[in-house]
Amino acid sequence: MTDARPPRLLFVCLGNICRSPTAEGVMRALAKRDGVVLELDSAGTGAWHIGEPPDRRMQAAARAAGYDFSDLRARQAVAEDFDRFDLILAMDEENVAALERLRPAGNDTPVRLMLSHGTSGRREVPDPYYDGGFDAVLRMIEEAAEGLLAQLRKER
Ligand code: 4NP
Repeated sequence: MTDARPPRLLFVCLGNICRSPTAEGVMRALAKRDGVVLELDSAGTGAWHIGEPPDRRMQAAARAAGYDFSDLRARQAVAEDFDRFDLILAMDEENVAALERLRPAGNDTPVRLMLSHGTSGRREVPDPYYDGGFDAVLRMIEEAAEGLLAQLRKER
């Protein structure tokens, strides 16, 4: 591939305060580590947390692992995201369904499950907002992000 424009990736969950900001923040860190230029963002399908930083429990798990997500702010996914991004990574099937309802007619931007890039066999990143499990969420996102980055590097 000779495309000089950096790939644009959008990570999506329900609230944009736990899983998708983690995917964005982890992917930023891995891309920086490997010197890969990517344009990254994240969004939620719901509007409850617009403008908020990531959940403090998620930030604590991330900080313990050496990440800093404190500058991220939640926003809601919009139809225009389908035109602005090359690939959309959803955390669970409910996110995929909500995204498909936003997709503009004629748009063919791929929407994939984030964990399709992992090797655990798990399909969905569980929603930790009510049930906890922030460390496990971080680990499964890290593993999938490594797979996603490896695939992007192969494609270029
Ligand atoms: P996220 O987690 O989708 O991973 O950001 C959630 C955050 C907030 C809510 C649900 C899930 N909520 O219902 O407010």
